[in-house]
Amino acid sequence: MNGRRVLVLDGPNLGRLGVREPDVYGSTTHAELAERCTAVGAELGLAVEVRQTDDEAELVRWLHEAVDTATPVVLNPAAFTHYSYALRDACAQLRGVAPLVEVHLSNPAAREAFRHTSVVAGVATGTVAGFGVESYVLALRAVATLTAPSSPGT
Ligand code: DQA
Repeated sequence: MNGRRVLVLDGPNLGRLGVREPDVYGSTTHAELAERCTAVGAELGLAVEVRQTDDEAELVRWLHEAVDTATPVVLNPAAFTHYSYALRDACAQLRGVAPLVEVHLSNPAAREAFRHTSVVAGVATGTVAGFGVESYVLALRAVATLTAPSSPGT
């Protein structure tokens, strides 16, 4: 892989994309989402690596890895968004180290009340939500801009 490295990290149930509530999350599978992210990344000069886990501890470990290697992250924390302080604390360590863009396929603000809170948003560089797979594309564009030489920073 060539280009600046970016991790796209997907949380629980996102491996079920395509079959999971397609009215909410669309019909694109996780494999197709990953393919689109790597293709868009290549166009932007980014070496995108997409990972998905249902395991909070694994997600936390991947964020530690991103901190230790100063790697930008596009993160869909899925349901962890709404309550995982462990994940928030891991994300907070990226501040000043590398950009972190929180993404959501749906627009949580337009859904059930419990989805209106993101414990991650306050430590993210920014958030993109509500555009389906395009949320990831927009997030990758943001990372490309933020990590370009003479960028506005993290
Ligand atoms: C989600 C929104 C979350 O509320 C939900 O728990 C998910 C997916 C999204 O991408 O729209 O699993 O993060």
